[in-house]
Amino acid sequence: MLRADTPGCAALLHANNAGSSLQPRPVIDAVLNYLALEQELGGYEAAIESAAAIQNVYDDLARLIGASTRQIAITDSATRAWNLALASVPFRPGDRILTSVAEYASNYLAFLQLQERVPVTVTPVPNDESGQLSLQALTDLMDDRVRLVAVTHVPTNGGLVNPAQAIGEVVAGSPALFLLDACQSVGQVPIDVTALKADMLTTTGRKYLRAPRGTGFLYVGDRALRELRPPLCDLFGAKWTSRDAYTLRDDARRFELYESNLASTLGLGAAARYAMDIGVERIWHRIRKLADRLRQALDAEDGITVVDQGDVRCGIVTFTVRGIDPAELAADLRPKRINIWHSSVESTRLDMEQRNLRSVARASVHCFNTESELDRLVEAIMVAR
Ligand SMILES: Cc1ncc(COP(=O)(O)O)c(C=O)c1O
Repeated sequence: MLRADTPGCAALLHANNAGSSLQPRPVIDAVLNYLALEQELGGYEAAIESAAAIQNVYDDLARLIGASTRQIAITDSATRAWNLALASVPFRPGDRILTSVAEYASNYLAFLQLQERVPVTVTPVPNDESGQLSLQALTDLMDDRVRLVAVTHVPTNGGLVNPAQAIGEVVAGSPALFLLDACQSVGQVPIDVTALKADMLTTTGRKYLRAPRGTGFLYVGDRALRELRPPLCDLFGAKWTSRDAYTLRDDARRFELYESNLASTLGLGAAARYAMDIGVERIWHRIRKLADRLRQALDAEDGITVVDQGDVRCGIVTFTVRGIDPAELAADLRPKRINIWHSSVESTRLDMEQRNLRSVARASVHCFNTESELDRLVEAIMVAR
């Protein structure tokens, strides 16, 4: 059923789900049907006709991560959601931000730009010997000046799953806010924002959730909703009540703008429903089984080194192949309709420099991949080298 639902996998061996996954039929249908409706009725009129379906998207995204509907804002990417979250924190000179070694480049770039405006310090929390964020180091670094703990759950460049719930426990007793970059984990790893004690969580649609490109969402917990204001908002996030005054919406949608791609929004909702219908626990179990098998098969080959870290490892499998550059390897496989990707030091500089890696090949599996596809992938890599 998983494969029958996924037209793309008939002709493709797609192991680039951490880049952008293949959409299942209900997602494709939701997008195409809405585009057709806009042509039939007009853009504004289609939105009125579909108001209930659009509202359901918020309910479904909330259900997916254990939030309530009023805590969800839809964005056009994970980075947009994350930037909004960061920009809404009223930093003061001397505030501290703690982050992870595995942090994604765009997050770190935003820290550097923030530091040009406000003198805050940014400290990456060291990893423990398994390669995940060290809870002891985090505990030791916490003090009253820590305003934000911003951590990546699953990095772009490896199978690591950072111990998000334990991190949330450490942050919870402090004045700091906890922002989790769950871009690579939503749709792959079961997420419950209450158990995570996250104040804000950001993710994208196109990766493990299998939604259309150009989608993402932001979760804003009740404390953050009380304390944080969007850096700027439009007439959707706020009401212009008199010449010199406005009132903000009281829900997370104060972070949205009026204009959005509603076809993609409906696709995002269909993707959340599809994942929940299968069961994220089941998806997670299947992905880990496939990824473990792939790691073992790659490790058994001479000249291939698997470089994943962490106690818990997910569907992202990273490795180096002696004698071939990772980007070249991905390009060699593409004409054979085999999709993998590569990740270089510019995407996760702190982690890659620490491990002396310039670039890694990345095969990221999803529940619709098969064991025989993995065998074929390893064979194709061996032919390419
Ligand atoms: C860990 C992580 N965070 C954030 C992002 C950015 O996501 P987006 O491209 O949707 O902005 C990525 C993208 O690969 C990522 O891997």
